[in-house]
Amino acid sequence: MFSSSLPTAALLALLLPISPVSSQKIGTAVPEVHPKLTTQTCTLASGCTTRQTRLVTDALAHPLHAASDPSISCTSLPASLCPDAATCAQNCVLEGVEYSSLGVLAQGSALTLRQYLFDGTQFKSVSPRLYLLAEDDHNYEPLKLLNAELSFDVDVSKLGCGMNGALYLSEMDMSGSRSDLNPAGAQYGTGYCDAQCFTTNSFINGVANLNQSGACCNEMDIWEANGRATVLTPHTCSSPGSFLCAGAECNRTAAGSGVCDKDGCGINPYGLGAKKFYGPGLTVDTSRPFTVVTQFFTADNSSAGTLSEIRRVYVQDGREIPNTAETTSTKLGAGFDGSITDAYCAARNRSDFARLGGMKGMGESLARGMVLIFSIWNSDGDFMSWLDGMDNGPCNATEGDPTIIRARTPDVAVTFSNIRWGEIGSTFNVSATGGEAKAAALTVASAGGVVGVMTGSVVGLAVLVGMLLW
Ligand SMILES: *[C@@H]1O[C@H](CO)[C@@H](O)[C@H](O)[C@H]1NC(C)=O
Ligand SMILES: *[C@@H]1O[C@H](CO)[C@@H](O)[C@H](O)[C@H]1NC(C)=O
Ligand SMILES: *[C@@H]1O[C@H](CO)[C@@H](O)[C@H](O)[C@H]1NC(C)=O
Ligand SMILES: *[C@@H]1O[C@H](CO)[C@@H](O)[C@H](O)[C@H]1NC(C)=O
Ligand SMILES: *[C@@H]1O[C@H](CO)[C@@H](O)[C@H](O)[C@H]1NC(C)=O
Ligand SMILES: *[C@@H]1O[C@H](CO)[C@@H](O)[C@H](O)[C@H]1NC(C)=O
Repeated sequence: MFSSSLPTAALLALLLPISPVSSQKIGTAVPEVHPKLTTQTCTLASGCTTRQTRLVTDALAHPLHAASDPSISCTSLPASLCPDAATCAQNCVLEGVEYSSLGVLAQGSALTLRQYLFDGTQFKSVSPRLYLLAEDDHNYEPLKLLNAELSFDVDVSKLGCGMNGALYLSEMDMSGSRSDLNPAGAQYGTGYCDAQCFTTNSFINGVANLNQSGACCNEMDIWEANGRATVLTPHTCSSPGSFLCAGAECNRTAAGSGVCDKDGCGINPYGLGAKKFYGPGLTVDTSRPFTVVTQFFTADNSSAGTLSEIRRVYVQDGREIPNTAETTSTKLGAGFDGSITDAYCAARNRSDFARLGGMKGMGESLARGMVLIFSIWNSDGDFMSWLDGMDNGPCNATEGDPTIIRARTPDVAVTFSNIRWGEIGSTFNVSATGGEAKAAALTVASAGGVVGVMTGSVVGLAVLVGMLLW
């Protein structure tokens, strides 16, 4: 279980301006105790400093029920409780959530996320999504990565076809769009937005979404991956910060009316033709942990400059592995060196990315500050084939089916650890002997150890034991 020295409900009472008439109430039945996940900020001159950051899951993963009767859910906006946003806020109570029940294990600097948990009868999909909170445990941590880099270690060895273990950034409001109608804010995981501008959420920024708005913002997908394929993708939007879209604005951008670039301008090595670069036993060996470094260069190498290049580097066994420049597309030609640039996006015809700001726009968002997000998920709709199937990866048409994943490998999990950001060159080391990288790999292995290797009929029992240990 997670420990906290702070009684959370009491702390909330102290911190939050309680506006008695119109605000969404904060429940007292389940305290909201945020798992601790240490992170580091680094400089070339002074090395890395450890920070006591925390995690919060999305507001919609918290129970939201009628103040008058906890058995009545507010999540689907029942008309009797939610005729308008102010009445809805008054009638509904947002409760805390027990993080181990969500498939979340944070220990020190390592975070393990699981897709399924055994509930005693069957494997239930939990599919957690988490946001990084600042040391104040009140607002999100603003990552400002223009002219900077982000590194982390990842273990994708238990993440097969159809799974997506993601680490990415969205330009959410740092308070979670806290407001009179939404006093909880970031402490209960409100304010989510991304470049898909989903219109299906019943609440946006903690306020009832009664007119099918979508929540949009710039999104930088640092890491969407499993053990078979990986993609790095900036997505731009027409406006800074988090904003609402209506009607056709929320649609796919091909027609030129959309306000965010849903497809993005990504690099997937396999998709470009480098089929032997990333996977079990390949150049980046996904059967073992490795370090992922993402660097955001500006044209003049100053933090006031324009984003010119997003560069990916891997470190495994102390060895630096540059992103592959191999491609079968003659259009990308000799100029492609494994990085994302405006020239690369133009060669790939990513016209919406350019129309909505291109590298310059993405860089401005990185400079303003974005929220770090972790998730694990799979997809009934497309089996994640845009990531690892068809021409994008080695997975066949059925392997990514969530029904098959749940039946065959219910222990699917991803572990992220040693998350650090700062000046370019300050967040990772390369060693001739490989000693440091091996030490880092050991840390990951022991933190993720509870998931272990589980096969056949012992899976259920082992996962149940795992749950109890959590
Ligand atoms: C939808 O509702 C939100 C607040 O609830 C409001 O800010 C927005 O302007 C509305 N959109 C339209 C198109 O009316
Ligand atoms: C936007 O998408 C919706 C839902 O798919 C569709 O009904 C509508 O016609 C689209 N609008 C435009 C202008 O493309
Ligand atoms: C910026 O830094 C990179 C990496 O150190 C270097 O290759 C590049 O030449 C520098 N650019 C300028 C304009 O100084
Ligand atoms: C980009 O579009 C042009 C013109 O429509 C086409 O010739 C080219 O093949 C496209 N390139 C890619 C990488 O799809
Ligand atoms: C897809 O791969 C799985 C093994 O992972 C195999 O059992 C299945 O038969 C394959 N399906 C097709 C259509 O090739
Ligand atoms: C890299 O190595 C230097 C020298 O040993 C050390 O001071 C620094 O903390 C290391 N940086 C990281 C990110 O491990």
